[in-house]
Amino acid sequence: MDTFEKKSAPVGFDNAKKHLQPYSGYYSNQVPLHDPELTETDPGTPMGEYMRSFWHPVCMSIELTDTPRFLKILGEELVAFRDKSGRVGLLHAHCVHRGASLEYGSIQERGIMCCYHGMVFDVDGACLHVPYPKGEEKEAEKFACSIRQGAYKAFERHGLVFAYMGPPEKEPPFPEWEGNFTVAEGDELVPYSNFQHCNWLQVQDNAADNYHPTALHAGKNVVGGNYQGTTFDEVGAASMEVAPDMLFVPIQNGRTLACAGARRVNKDRLFVRVQHQVMPNLSLHAYTSEDGSAKKHFSRFHIIRWTVPVDNENSKMIGWRVMGPGIDTRGICDKSLVGYESIDFLEGQVAMRRPERFGKYTIDDLPPIPSNHRERANYKDAQYAPGDYEAIISQRPIAIHALEHPTKFDAGLYAFRKMLRDAVRGTNPEATPEKYAEWLRDLGGEPNSVCCGNVLEIPEAETVEQEVVQRRKVLRQMVSLLTESIDKKGQARADFVRGGMDAIEKSIGE
Ligand code: FES
Ligand SMILES: [Fe+2]
Repeated sequence: MDTFEKKSAPVGFDNAKKHLQPYSGYYSNQVPLHDPELTETDPGTPMGEYMRSFWHPVCMSIELTDTPRFLKILGEELVAFRDKSGRVGLLHAHCVHRGASLEYGSIQERGIMCCYHGMVFDVDGACLHVPYPKGEEKEAEKFACSIRQGAYKAFERHGLVFAYMGPPEKEPPFPEWEGNFTVAEGDELVPYSNFQHCNWLQVQDNAADNYHPTALHAGKNVVGGNYQGTTFDEVGAASMEVAPDMLFVPIQNGRTLACAGARRVNKDRLFVRVQHQVMPNLSLHAYTSEDGSAKKHFSRFHIIRWTVPVDNENSKMIGWRVMGPGIDTRGICDKSLVGYESIDFLEGQVAMRRPERFGKYTIDDLPPIPSNHRERANYKDAQYAPGDYEAIISQRPIAIHALEHPTKFDAGLYAFRKMLRDAVRGTNPEATPEKYAEWLRDLGGEPNSVCCGNVLEIPEAETVEQEVVQRRKVLRQMVSLLTESIDKKGQARADFVRGGMDAIEKSIGE
């Protein structure tokens, strides 16, 4: 793709240098096209087709009420509902008869009735009823058999509605990460959904951007004490504000990416956080409030979330936050704040900030989400202390990759973009929809994750140079240990990994 330098450079000037002189914005004022191959997900697009070969959460269970829920997913207009017999339906919004939206339909014992002429459609799209005059039942039945409302298979799990929107004959297994998302005893999966006014990929990019907390979530980023929000410093996880040494390793045949980061807590302990990016749009994150105050080996995921495209310029983060004493060893997470357009950590995760940060939105009291982030009532609060939402959506509705100047800190998200491209183009045969589904089937639908939070008792090395070498060695050893453990199950795996971490601590300390 042409870059702006090529387009705008006048004859006789050095293309590479022209825009580097003082006050030379003129030479970089053209905005090239976004990268459609990775960002566009409408039907028929390369990424859209790839995405459609996976299960995705499309809404929360609480969004299914006594009226149908209008949704847009992957650029398709849909309605979701739970019929009176308890089955979940996800249908094309526009009635196959003459296009009225089923969001105005009425939910039946079985299926949904279109408001316009009263046709009834089952959750699989079958037409159950056509309102023909008496005596013409045969004709009505014949007509009903000749049409079908577009439908997708959907089911509920832990408060989320999942759907498969690809060809039915290619339906993959639903991936039960860590064996049905197993969490520690006493912990629970709490569902949430946060709308993002931008393309899905920049939300996903952010998950592998492990350097931004140093700036975006640091106390020093709050302007002039004007704002009472939360930063990592305020939740006592100050080590998250230390720039980590990172190691990014594609694993599971290039279907997923291990993102391991080492940060020094103090001279005795090293915080090693391993985040797991799973193609195409899943990420698993370790404990978000770690303070590094005690040794910790192989604490598991705290967030598991999908970035689901709504359309090319909107998306939603939708998933579960794990709540309970097993993961939240400091007891500071707040379940009451996790839900629809709401999350309990760090201000600036959703469009609608609540200054008082109390209570959570329900479907009934949800204020309309503003379409323009600059017209929000709380815009100035957001400027005082921006969060992920502000950073991500302000990268433009679809970020322009051709204008980026990546540093080594961007290695993770660039690696993930490459994995996506290789998957979409088929240059990584292991990541094609067919091979991916085959892999899941071979694992009984239960892949394991490398995601974990760890505080290792590894003393700081004598010199800065030695410390850097030591941290990187620990990262390599941690990733190999986790990769080696990946086919083991449950307690046997936990014992193996914890034993391995003891050994790493010992060998480094020697
Ligand atoms: S448009 Fe739906 S029944 Fe006629
Ligand atoms: Fe962030």
